[in-house]
Amino acid sequence: MYSGASNFVTTTDTAFAVIIGISMIFLVGITATMLWFVFRYNKKRNPVATQIHGSNTLEIVWTVIPTILVLVMFFYGWSGYAPMNRIPDDAMKVRATARMWSWLFEYENGIKTDTLYIPVDKAVALDLISVDVIHSLYIPAFRVKEDMVPGKTNKMWFIGQKTGDYELFCTEYCGLSHSYMFTEVKVLPQAEFDAWYARMADTTLQAQAAAANPGFKGKQLVQTNGCVACHSLDGNKLIGPTFKGLYGAEHTVMTGNDERTITVDDEYIKRSIYEPDADVTKGYTKGMMISYKTQLTDADVAEIIEYLKTIK
Ligand code: CUA
Repeated sequence: MYSGASNFVTTTDTAFAVIIGISMIFLVGITATMLWFVFRYNKKRNPVATQIHGSNTLEIVWTVIPTILVLVMFFYGWSGYAPMNRIPDDAMKVRATARMWSWLFEYENGIKTDTLYIPVDKAVALDLISVDVIHSLYIPAFRVKEDMVPGKTNKMWFIGQKTGDYELFCTEYCGLSHSYMFTEVKVLPQAEFDAWYARMADTTLQAQAAAANPGFKGKQLVQTNGCVACHSLDGNKLIGPTFKGLYGAEHTVMTGNDERTITVDDEYIKRSIYEPDADVTKGYTKGMMISYKTQLTDADVAEIIEYLKTIK
């Protein structure tokens, strides 16, 4: 508690402590009263029951006190919650996209990542987009959580107040691999963040890296499009076939109702990205992947193929 990881930690934890505190007082008080009544007013000690016909004083006391207590809880809750809806004008904007079952973060200079990088002590505002079903973005250490609803742009903001890595995950059950929608927020010192921000946007540097590492661009595409949520890199069977050793492998696929054997080549990969249900590898379920036709160009697919060739 009170870790100070974000600007909302203290208010949220205080509201929580107040509610827990009041609940504890009642739990102990009510239990003690019950035990006392059992002891004092059982038939042996109190053979003749007393008939009580109302008490205005008591009625007023047990109406007014709980009302005050509920208002106290409301006060702490509201004073912590209201600022979450007042996004500062100078906040750094990041577009957060959720899809089954991965995250994408897009910055104003065009950088795309699957991990949220932010500078310390700076307000960050997220536009929350879902491209398929309802997801929910949750950063426990920051005490922030907001639903991501298709067709609607919800917002969230916070200030990371301590450098470090914090968990970020989906907290709305969104299908088979919901639990894989898990990534990190990296809170960096301003200078380190600026360096990262500039380096990622530097097309010359990116081109150099791409030239030095075959599949560099494809790897980025595979990460930012969330392919690895369903296709492992280590041979494990997830929702879809593993990428390990995929290129050039022989696969038995179902084309409609016909079973045939194909070699995984450029054409097959492209078709699988654009029309995932056309040839489904035997042992896997149809309808698990959406078409990436609108999201990946032919050039992108070529880069991904180059990358797949490197995963042996
Ligand atoms: Cu997305 Cu659960």
